[in-house]
Amino acid sequence: MKSKLKEGIEKVLAEYGGRRLALLPALHLVQEREGHISEEVISYLASRLSLPSVDVYGVVTFYSLFSLEKGGKNIIRVCVSLPCYLRGSNQILETLKEELGIKEYETTPDKRFTLEPVSCLGLCDQAPAMMINDAIYGALTRRKVKKIIRGFK
Ligand code: FES
Repeated sequence: MKSKLKEGIEKVLAEYGGRRLALLPALHLVQEREGHISEEVISYLASRLSLPSVDVYGVVTFYSLFSLEKGGKNIIRVCVSLPCYLRGSNQILETLKEELGIKEYETTPDKRFTLEPVSCLGLCDQAPAMMINDAIYGALTRRKVKKIIRGFK
């Protein structure tokens, strides 16, 4: 597991005093950063929280926003923090969902795209903003988003 990810998990665990309550926030953090929850993360969380792995699996599979599989070829990260929200990021997210036929944190059946709402990407001056892999897209409109996605297809 990447040391930065481990550090992030440890921070969440510390915030919750290492209690079981930390499980959901820790899983959220991993899903947001990695796009999926690996078996390694499951065993790590199980051992750190003194839970059977099967219980952690149960939580991951219960909530549809967690995924056990690695995401698609192209990871779309849409900022949903306040400055982007005020400039219509919810419409951008809706447009992406319509275009791709998936919901948040899902991957298209052809494994080409994974859609992830994320917090501030540091592109607030270009709100509403998103990234597809390493490429930055700002000042988005519904039309612009459709064009970008169709350009990928
Ligand atoms: S709030 Fe969206 S990029 Fe900063």
